[in-house]
Parts: sequence; C-alpha cells; structure tokens
Amino acid sequence: MGVLILFVAIFVALVGSSLNVDTETAVPAVYIFGDSIFDVGTNNFLNDSKARADNKPYGIDFPNSKPTGRFSNGYNTADQIVRLLGLNESPPAYLYLVNNDTENFNSSILKGVNFASGGSGIMEETGKQHFIDVVSMADQIQQFATVHGNILQYLNDTAEATINKSLFLISAGSNDIFDFLLYNVSKNPNFNITREVQEFFNLLRTTYHTHLKNLHNLGARKFGILSVPPVGCVPIVTNGTGHCVNDINTLAALFHIEIGDVLENLSSEFPGMKYSLGNSYAITYDMINNPDPLHLSNVTSACCGNETVIDGVPCGSDTQVCENRSQFLFWDQYHPTEHASRIAAHKLYSGGKEYVAPMNFSLLVQE
Ligand SMILES: *[C@@H]1O[C@H](CO)[C@@H](O)[C@H](O)[C@H]1NC(C)=O
Ligand SMILES: *[C@@H]1O[C@H](CO)[C@@H](O)[C@H](O)[C@H]1NC(C)=O
Ligand SMILES: *[C@@H]1O[C@H](CO)[C@@H](O)[C@H](O)[C@H]1NC(C)=O
Ligand SMILES: *[C@@H]1O[C@H](CO)[C@@H](O)[C@H](O)[C@H]1NC(C)=O
Ligand SMILES: *[C@@H]1O[C@H](CO)[C@@H](O)[C@H](O)[C@H]1NC(C)=O
Ligand SMILES: *[C@@H]1O[C@H](CO)[C@@H](O)[C@H](O)[C@H]1NC(C)=O
Ligand SMILES: *[C@@H]1O[C@H](CO)[C@@H](O)[C@H](O)[C@H]1NC(C)=O
Ligand SMILES: *[C@@H]1O[C@H](CO)[C@@H](O)[C@H](O)[C@H]1NC(C)=O
Ligand SMILES: *[C@@H]1O[C@H](CO)[C@@H](O)[C@H](O)[C@H]1NC(C)=O
Ligand SMILES: *[C@@H]1O[C@H](CO)[C@@H](O)[C@H](O)[C@H]1NC(C)=O
Ligand SMILES: *[C@@H]1O[C@H](CO)[C@@H](O)[C@H](O)[C@H]1NC(C)=O
Ligand SMILES: *[C@@H]1O[C@H](CO)[C@@H](O)[C@H](O)[C@H]1NC(C)=O
Repeated sequence: MGVLILFVAIFVALVGSSLNVDTETAVPAVYIFGDSIFDVGTNNFLNDSKARADNKPYGIDFPNSKPTGRFSNGYNTADQIVRLLGLNESPPAYLYLVNNDTENFNSSILKGVNFASGGSGIMEETGKQHFIDVVSMADQIQQFATVHGNILQYLNDTAEATINKSLFLISAGSNDIFDFLLYNVSKNPNFNITREVQEFFNLLRTTYHTHLKNLHNLGARKFGILSVPPVGCVPIVTNGTGHCVNDINTLAALFHIEIGDVLENLSSEFPGMKYSLGNSYAITYDMINNPDPLHLSNVTSACCGNETVIDGVPCGSDTQVCENRSQFLFWDQYHPTEHASRIAAHKLYSGGKEYVAPMNFSLLVQE
C-alpha cells in the first residue's frame, strides 16, 4: 500500500424511507471532530498538507460543482448526518471562521463548528508522516476550547445548557490503523504482531478516553461516534479487485469493540453523558455484501481514480470520473460517494442496534 490517505467510511441502507426533516433543528448546535470523513475544508488552510480535496473533480456534484475540501463528489457524511437534523449542511470549518469569516465568528459558533481534518487520527502523530500537516484530534479539541470560551462570554449563564444539548460528532481511527500498518508493522521484520496489536489498542483506548474526557470537561454530553469501516476493502488496498484484506479488516472490527468499551466506561464515569456508537464496519460491509437493494452496482472500484496508480494523487484533474456516481460505493481510493454517505447517515440516524448502539442518532438528539 502506499499512499494512505484517509480512509473510507460508512454507509448503508434504508432506501425509500421517508424522513421527516423538521424545519427546526433537533439540537442547538453540532460540533464535529475527526478525519476526512467529516472534513469540510479544514485542510484547505494547511498549506503543506498533502491531504487536500480542494481541487476538481472533488465536489463535482456539490452545488456549483465546487471543490470545497470535502473528500467526496458532493456532500460528505458530516453533511448527510446534520441534514437529517434539519441543517442544510455541515457547519463551517473552524479555520475558515477564524481566517475568512471573523465578523460572523461569534454568531456562527452558536450553531456549530467543524474541526475535522483529513488524515488525522486519535493519536497525536497520526497522518503527519504521510500528509505532512493535519490538525490532530488534541488540537481540534484545543480549538473547541477556544470556541467554548467565546460561547461562555456570549451566552453567559445559558451557555452550559446550550452546549450540553448540542451534538458532538466524531469520526476517527482509520488513519491510526493505516499508520500502524505502514510505519510500525511493515517497517519492523521482528515484529511480534500479537503484542504490538495489543499495545496499539491500549494506546488508542487511553488516548480516545482522554479526548472524550476533555470534551466532557468542556461541557459536551451527547456524543455521536463513528468507528472504522472495513479499511481492508478500500480500492487503494484491493486495487479495485474487491478482494478484501482480512488482516486489515480484523483491526477495523476490533477497533469498534475497543471504542465501545471506552464509551461504556466513560458513561459510567459520567452519568449525564449519552452516546451513539455507529458501527461503520457493519454499515459499510452491508453495502459491499448486499449492494442491490441500495442500487449500488459498483462496490469495488473508485469512481474517480486509477487503480494502477499506487503513489501520487490518484483522483485529480486528469483522472477519469465515472458517469453515474450514485451507483458507486467509493468516490476515490478511500472515500465514499455522496450517495453512499447518505445511505450511511440514514442508518446512523434511524438504524437498529446492529448499526448503531445503544441508541440511534434520532433518539440521541431527543435525550
Ligand atoms: C498559507 O498560504 C497563504 C497564501 O500564500 C498565506 O497567506 C498564509 O499565511 C499561509 N498560511 C500559513 C499557516 O503558513
Ligand atoms: C480565504 O481567504 C483567502 C484570502 O482572501 C482566499 O484566498 C481563500 O480562497 C479563502 N478560502 C476559502 C475557503 O474561502
Ligand atoms: C466575539 O466575542 C468575544 C467575546 O464576547 C469578543 O471579545 C470578540 O470581540 C467578538 N468577536 C467579534 C469578531 O465580534
Ligand atoms: C452576557 O453578559 C454581558 C455582560 O454582563 C451582557 O452584556 C450580555 O448582554 C449578556 N448576554 C446575554 C445573552 O445574556
Ligand atoms: C445542562 O445544563 C443545565 C444548566 O446548567 C442543567 O440544568 C442540566 O442538568 C444539564 N444537563 C446535562 C445533561 O448535563
Ligand atoms: C508475542 O507476544 C505475545 C503477547 O505478549 C506472547 O504471548 C508471545 O509469546 C509472543 N510471541 C513471540 C514469538 O515472541
Ligand atoms: C509505532 O512506532 C513509533 C516509532 O516509530 C512509536 O512511537 C509508536 O508508539 C508505535 N505505535 C504503536 C501503536 O506501536
Ligand atoms: C473500563 O473499566 C474497566 C473496569 O474498571 C477496566 O478494567 C477497563 O480497562 C476499562 N476500559 C477502558 C477502555 O478504559
Ligand atoms: C444512476 O444510477 C441510479 C442507481 O442505480 C439509477 O437509479 C439512475 O437511473 C442512474 N442514472 C443514469 C443517468 O443512468
Ligand atoms: C467498477 O468500475 C470500474 C471502473 O469503472 C470497472 O473497471 C469495473 O469493471 C466495475 N465493476 C463492476 C462490477 O461493474
Ligand atoms: C491510469 O494510469 C496509467 C499510468 O499512469 C495510465 O496509463 C492510464 O491511462 C490511467 N487510466 C485511467 C483510466 O485514468
Ligand atoms: C492493479 O490492477 C491493474 C488492473 O486493473 C493491474 O494492471 C495492476 O498491475 C494492479 N496493480 C497491482 C499492484 O496489483
């Protein structure tokens, strides 16, 4: 494998269900953290970052065919989730508000902010070797601390009740797995894989626990968390053959269990905390194994990209793009299409316990 960018994501079903999207939003605000599944332009402000999606044909199906930095042909999973909550799209990127929209900063942050950065992970170093610059999860939370301070000043005594009703969305872990495979496993011939995997997950658990605790200290109470999709099935790994690499998928499946433990522990530590854990693994696997009901006809190849290119930027201005994007699971070598993201969001929002537990997002926001 070479260029591991971000990863993939999520999705699945419920085609044909009719959703009642209220004109009122279901929560006062949405604060979004994590990786390229959720990034809506953070990395556009990282001049040296190699994890960028602000070039065509990214965004080809976005309003005005605009490449916004989303790793998608259109709306990404963050957008699709918040659309089900009554918003039009994800709140803006923090770095956009800070750099390009300072006059609206104070009013914008009351409705939400997106801190997610493509290539980042749970661990501080994740993504930095390969993509040079990403905003780590710890730094994203630090940025939220700044936002939190502004909200407190702005709303005074109503701030706490606003933040504790708001939704905190996080997608992370895929890039930690990629980095572990790239920089730990593959570079070390004398590796004891059993022991190293244990250590890897111990580190991930304690680090994720710390991140969530820090958000809790800043008033967060409602968490919508996504685990890792079957990253052994993404086109960059399978070269478009559809033959998934089981060892990689095993790490992704284990990740889901580990994060479930972290969340269970945290919620007993902090009784006011509520969460939904989205099983990105199950959601995506369903799309791969049973694509027909979802009207997906290609779940192996990237719509934009070239399976033969292992290094460099596989999806770019001189790459072919498939005609009917909604038939593809994968937009590029790592990421879902807008259509697949929408399917995933519906599963997260109203799906059963096999996809999201202990409650789905629609119940979480009512809590
Ligand atoms: C990124 O590049 C722009 C345009 O060249 C420049 O204005 C900005 O200061 C740079 N940002 C950083 C963080 O270096
Ligand atoms: C932010 O502002 C800079 C300078 O005005 C501009 O070049 C850049 O395109 C803007 N970025 C976004 C995402 O709007
Ligand atoms: C935002 O609010 C803070 C705190 O009330 C204030 O200090 C700052 O000047 C405001 N910024 C803008 C751009 O209005
Ligand atoms: C918050 O307190 C400041 C200073 O006491 C006051 O100017 C402002 O109007 C208050 N804001 C709200 C939303 O109550
Ligand atoms: C949210 O904050 C309000 C005001 O401080 C408080 O009454 C309420 O119990 C809090 N809810 C949770 C879930 O922490
Ligand atoms: C690898 O590590 C595991 C767990 O620490 C240990 O039980 C096993 O004996 C080790 N294997 C080898 C070949 O050293
Ligand atoms: C991977 O290797 C780096 C050093 O190259 C080390 O700092 C890090 O802790 C290792 N990660 C895991 C999960 O073992
Ligand atoms: C959760 O709590 C149990 C019991 O206190 C502990 O054994 C376990 O290591 C904790 N797990 C995590 C992920 O913190
Ligand atoms: C694209 O694919 C979808 C789903 O299979 C199908 O409903 C639609 O008719 C197709 N559109 C075109 C223009 O082929
Ligand atoms: C998926 O799309 C790729 C690229 O367009 C194509 O080579 C492949 O044959 C398609 N697979 C299926 C099952 O249609
Ligand atoms: C894929 O890349 C190879 C090598 O750069 C090139 O020859 C080929 O035309 C490309 N195929 C597509 C479909 O872009
Ligand atoms: C990837 O698949 C293409 C055909 O689609 C083939 O030409 C190429 O050799 C394969 N690359 C690897 C590394 O297997």
